[in-house]
Amino acid sequence: MAVFTMSAAPVAAAGAPVAGVPVASDPVVPSPAPPDVAPVVPVQAPPAAGWCVPRPRRATRPSALYGNLRRPLYPVIKSESVDPVRNPYAPGAGQRPPELAGRDRELQQFEIVLERVARGRPERSMVLTGLRGVGKTVLLNTFKSMAMQRLWGTGKIEARPDQSIRRPVAAALHMAIRELAPRHRAPERIEEFLGVLKAFAMRDPAAAKGTSHWSPGIDVPAARGRADSGDLEIDLTELFVDAASVATDLGVGIALFIDEMQDVQAPDVSALCAACHELSQNGGPLIVVGAGLPHLPSVLSASKSYSERLFRYARIDRLDREAADQALIAPAAREGVEFTPDALDALYEAADGYPYFVQAYGKVAWDFAPRSPITADDIKVAAPEAEEELAVGFFGSRYERATPAERDYMRAMAQLGDDPVPTAEVAEVLGRKPSSLSPARDSLIKKGLIYSAERGLIGFTVPHFGRFLRAQPV
Ligand SMILES: Nc1ncnc2c1ncn2[C@@H]1O[C@H](COP(=O)(O)OP(=O)(O)OP(=O)(O)O)[C@@H](O)[C@H]1O
Ligand SMILES: [Mg+2]
Repeated sequence: MAVFTMSAAPVAAAGAPVAGVPVASDPVVPSPAPPDVAPVVPVQAPPAAGWCVPRPRRATRPSALYGNLRRPLYPVIKSESVDPVRNPYAPGAGQRPPELAGRDRELQQFEIVLERVARGRPERSMVLTGLRGVGKTVLLNTFKSMAMQRLWGTGKIEARPDQSIRRPVAAALHMAIRELAPRHRAPERIEEFLGVLKAFAMRDPAAAKGTSHWSPGIDVPAARGRADSGDLEIDLTELFVDAASVATDLGVGIALFIDEMQDVQAPDVSALCAACHELSQNGGPLIVVGAGLPHLPSVLSASKSYSERLFRYARIDRLDREAADQALIAPAAREGVEFTPDALDALYEAADGYPYFVQAYGKVAWDFAPRSPITADDIKVAAPEAEEELAVGFFGSRYERATPAERDYMRAMAQLGDDPVPTAEVAEVLGRKPSSLSPARDSLIKKGLIYSAERGLIGFTVPHFGRFLRAQPV
């Protein structure tokens, strides 16, 4: 973990009661000093029990409360600028980045989709595809905000391989309608739709078998004869048409966002495509926007051949140099911190433009740097720490999910390189018949660790995973 974990600022946030000094409840945590920081000088002798010596902290936010603390620390901290508390970078799953860099084209495209759908123009929904950590969820969430800004109704689901989409879609459309309801002049139209929505939700096979006590949380009686046939394709189509008609009353639209769309079960994908197809024909203002791994287009076209005409696919890739620099520079500038050009070179080389890595390396580099500007030397010191964090969290957690046979399969893939490799060559490396490896391969695809890039080719869904595996002891 990062070396500098504590500072005066969190103490303030915790509501330090003693004027001008850290509180007693704030334990002294010995932090290993970075190589370039001078030894810490004690600020003051603790005058009474319950006082504690401030920990080695280099940077503090200007604050009247800590004014007398900062002065004696100045010779030690040298700089105010790279305060870990103000570290802006956000490595995480779906975590909003401090700067959404390099996605202007997609944002513009979606803006046009929203405008066209609202005007009743024929328009295809968008589907975002890309490797793990390239920023699909973040973009999907941004699209959702854009739709909400236009006063559309919105709902979002995350598909799971073991779950039908019936309930999640019902819950998401419920949310969307709740957003629209306060502005609708005819409450009976909303109630009518909620009745259909309830009927749709209650046709869940699990509920019918009495295996579930789930209730959709809708206070109106379930309607009869609409969206309740039990056939998801028919029900979804009727539900979408009715939802779109409520949105039309208000001159807006409804957007349903589906993350991890490659995990939607095959019959449900087919029903979803059919419902979208129907909507696209009658011009209803409801769109389904998906995001998933690179093989999502083939999952969709396997279920309905017209799917490629139904969705506009946008491949989300790593950031180019300019965008990756922007992702680092802009948030830092807002905190008064800069990078030297050498540092940016080193960061680009390490992160390779993958947004998750950009955030991960940026975060650790910030924590290690003693002052602004952050230099290439700081990156040199920080990089092993960032790599270790990635090895445990980003790569390790996924590797752990694989069985021994699956690990062998992935190691063989890694030996062949970083790009998608032919399955026949993987079999050759392992000295096995390709057919005998199908179970391992299929289960790795199900676990979302590898994907079938095109016929006969297989690739890692996680960038740099091959490199990680090659570095593992066998
Ligand atoms: N355009 C961007 N600029 C800077 N950082 C970004 C950008 N997009 C995403 N990130 C950062 O990258 C990380 C991964 O983003 P996100 O979770 O959206 O990826 P994902 O493609 O959905 O990954 P997964 O397939 O694992 O769900 C997050 O920490 C996010 O803050
Ligand atoms: Mg995601």
